Amino acid sequence: MILRPAVPGDAALLARWDEKPHVKWCTGLDPDQPLPDVEREDWAGQIARDVDWLDILIGEVEGRAIGVVQIIDPHLEESHYWGDCAPHQRAIDIWIGEESDLGKGHGTKMMQQAIDRCFADPAVTTILIDPLIINTAAIRFYRRLGFVDVGERRFGEDDCLVMELPRAVWQF
Ligand SMILES: CC(C)(COP(=O)(O)OP(=O)(O)OC[C@H]1O[C@@H](n2cnc3c(N)ncnc32)[C@H](O)[C@@H]1OP(=O)(O)O)[C@@H](O)C(=O)NCCC(=O)NCCS
Repeated sequence: MILRPAVPGDAALLARWDEKPHVKWCTGLDPDQPLPDVEREDWAGQIARDVDWLDILIGEVEGRAIGVVQIIDPHLEESHYWGDCAPHQRAIDIWIGEESDLGKGHGTKMMQQAIDRCFADPAVTTILIDPLIINTAAIRFYRRLGFVDVGERRFGEDDCLVMELPRAVWQF
């Protein structure tokens, strides 16, 4: 497993993954309905951006892209999705693209590498994630990686569980 920066050629694959029922479901969308236009990510545009608060990374196994990790600095991120946020934190999103690649340990390896990458910056204190409360498999997955519950929080129309991995827990 390697994590590499996304390139323009990944945009079509990422758009295809966005249509997958398990990916729609984890973002609070109806998995049985087509992706609404308003939810359609401009992946080509996002990948082309050169901002220091966003990393889009592709997990690759034997040269095959299997999933994606987005790392943001929630203090600097332009939409202020996380609200007022202390500096020196990171927030991670992750999803596996194909259903057939779920539950094979790929996500664990991608997260471990993403976490190491975040904490490689000595200033970073904490990593945040916000799974939907109903996404119990993802919550179990994050707990196994050392994330601890912070509390429930509503983001827009989504009821989420905020979880965090403080540097001290990661080092332990
Ligand atoms: C959450 C997610 C990223 C985890 O990635 P994953 O590759 O499926 O996770 P892993 O395989 O590393 O671990 C998850 C499960 O597989 C099991 N597993 C771990 N290594 C395994 C292996 N080598 N072979 C088979 N199963 C394995 C784990 O025990 C775990 O099982 P559990 O759910 O019964 O506790 C992925 O399931 C996903 O993309 N889900 C949909 C999108 C999503 O919910 N994203 C998170 C939004 S907050």
